[in-house]
Amino acid sequence: MSVRATEHGWILETRATAYTLGFDDAGRLIHGYWGARLPYSADYSVPARTPGWASAGWASFNGSSHLIRAEYPGYAGPSYVEPCLKVMFADGVRDVVLRQEGVELEDETLRIRLHDTVYPLAVTLHYRLHPDVDLIERWTTLSNEGEQPITLERAFSAQWHLPHGTDYRLTHVNGRWLDEMHLVRESLEPGSKVLESRRLTTSHHHNPWFAIDRAGAPANEDAGEVWFGVLAWSGNWKLVAEVTEFASTRVSLGLNDWDFAWRLDAGQEFTTPSSFAGYTREGFGGASRLLHEFVRESVVPHPGVTRKVLYNSWEATTFDVSEQGQLELARHAAAMGVELFVMDDGWFHSRASDNAGLGDWWPDPEKFPRGLGPLVEGVNALSMDFGLWIEPEMVNPDSDLYRAHPDWVIHFPTRERTEMRNQLILNVARPEVQEYLIKLLDDLLTRHNIRFIKWDMNRNISEPGWPDAPGDARELWVRYVQGVYHIWDTLRARHPEVIWQSCSGGGGRVDFGILRLADQAWISDNTSAPPRLAIQEGYSHIFPASTMEAWVTDWDRGKLPLEFRFHVSMCGLLGVGGNLLHWSAEERAQAAQLIAQYKELRHIVQFGDLYRLRSPQEHAFSALEYITSDRSAGVIFAFRTHIPDPIILPLLYPRGLEPQARYIIESFDGVYSGQAWMQTGLELNLGNFESKILRISRV
Ligand code: DGJ
Repeated sequence: MSVRATEHGWILETRATAYTLGFDDAGRLIHGYWGARLPYSADYSVPARTPGWASAGWASFNGSSHLIRAEYPGYAGPSYVEPCLKVMFADGVRDVVLRQEGVELEDETLRIRLHDTVYPLAVTLHYRLHPDVDLIERWTTLSNEGEQPITLERAFSAQWHLPHGTDYRLTHVNGRWLDEMHLVRESLEPGSKVLESRRLTTSHHHNPWFAIDRAGAPANEDAGEVWFGVLAWSGNWKLVAEVTEFASTRVSLGLNDWDFAWRLDAGQEFTTPSSFAGYTREGFGGASRLLHEFVRESVVPHPGVTRKVLYNSWEATTFDVSEQGQLELARHAAAMGVELFVMDDGWFHSRASDNAGLGDWWPDPEKFPRGLGPLVEGVNALSMDFGLWIEPEMVNPDSDLYRAHPDWVIHFPTRERTEMRNQLILNVARPEVQEYLIKLLDDLLTRHNIRFIKWDMNRNISEPGWPDAPGDARELWVRYVQGVYHIWDTLRARHPEVIWQSCSGGGGRVDFGILRLADQAWISDNTSAPPRLAIQEGYSHIFPASTMEAWVTDWDRGKLPLEFRFHVSMCGLLGVGGNLLHWSAEERAQAAQLIAQYKELRHIVQFGDLYRLRSPQEHAFSALEYITSDRSAGVIFAFRTHIPDPIILPLLYPRGLEPQARYIIESFDGVYSGQAWMQTGLELNLGNFESKILRISRV
């Protein structure tokens, strides 16, 4: 597992995969191979053999750069395929020709330094291996070594090349507010398929993730080749899956170049976000498990820490919060076994509805005449941690903050400021806004024993203006996200014990960038159990259960069994969000039992490997399984939504058991080998909206 130099280039090997690249005779950096690891170095053709005619170009309609598989193509010469880099030099030239300048190889990182042949632009491509999870991380730094500014018009993180050919399918997720993460699978045809966000955040609509398999030899959950990747960025992003007319398929991923510009002044450097990508022969399930392990162990701030069962007040009390009201809920929550009580929206100055208050982050004197202290202490006295909701990037025009700083919001001076949910967006790209928010939130965290912050963001952008921007105002898109990261990073460094949750009206900002800061995410405002099953499944293709908050609320109360609703939420980080004052004593007692059961099995859910047994997006009878990495304990969750009777449910086949080891499975008689259980399957008998948890134990 290493980076190795060869006569022609480099071989990057992880546990099970390899990736090769090298320079061709014309000095261009060319992609070679990406797939299963091969026995000998000589097995890799590095760089991939490009036909002789390709170097010179072929016909006046196909330039040479069109025919090769450049690792990081700049827009130059007769090139009509997607470039990674497009710049404008001070003299107006918009053509970037990169050649090798130097290479550094250090442990598991390869740095290839390229330089423009004429202009003072240095480009460093970074390749870092994450060998155990078969991921390669790529990012790029661009340096202006001259005197004049250089304008970046596109600066992607990476282009990932599939093996030569066109027979591919792309899987991605699509959705909208309340309805995120639908899986879409489509064949890649000649031309470009573009997925993107132009909304300032990652978005509910798409996610910067791809999984590609072969249309002619499709992968399934368990087996088959899958190439997959993500972009670790929480703002505007773009993914272009392109099939060229010369049978080359590639995925470019990076900051969105739509309305993007970045002025790179003399001596400055620009670093792109990272893109992580991997390859597996173990199907879509295998791809997810690699991403999950990486997020669990190497991305989130508190790896290995058991996530607490939380209560969230939003759906119970909305804006109508008070010290007594929250404490009353907290008493019930504590009695049920909840470990973390989170007060959501409504607690701060003049926040009676969504019309006012955002920006004024001090306790509303009418609702909390004694401040937050007594509530926090009251919650702690019930042996629960206290958590708080904030939405720092936002401001209501009806707030003291906006009255004092109307210029602090994103706007064009000559245009009306479009309000969405009665709010405007603070221009977090501005250093003074960052400093203001850091001070304010730091005070809040210093004054109170707050152990959990839910950081929300409840609208998309409009009128993306930054009137007195120091550079090009289109830098807003990137500087805004950098500003959010800076605030969050600073607060995390000062209050390392706090667990942060990312929320943007549900799943509007979940990505590998934000998960470096937030351990948990609120993945949808839709808390109805049946659609939630589908949303959770889509989410599980990218992110692990250890990040996925799932509350039991009142949406389905009186319509679906409490047990079913709990079982759905127990597939992730269990939370409760219903109005406990309305719940009967029986409901609360049953909830307490289910919470206790969750605590017994949460180490399997939160840290185990996921196997999706039957898709809820495809079937009304669905199931998933988590199993510990040593394969000693597992749990299957099975759900039936609505199917007309009579029906015999199809068998469920457990996965990931050790074939020779012997296991028992709850509710089934006998001790059998893992292989037997996986081969013969389980027959379940469930009615509509019934569910079942089956514990698996190795004996
Ligand atoms: C949107 C979030 O997704 C909800 O959970 C809640 O926090 C509201 N915002 C509060 O305004």
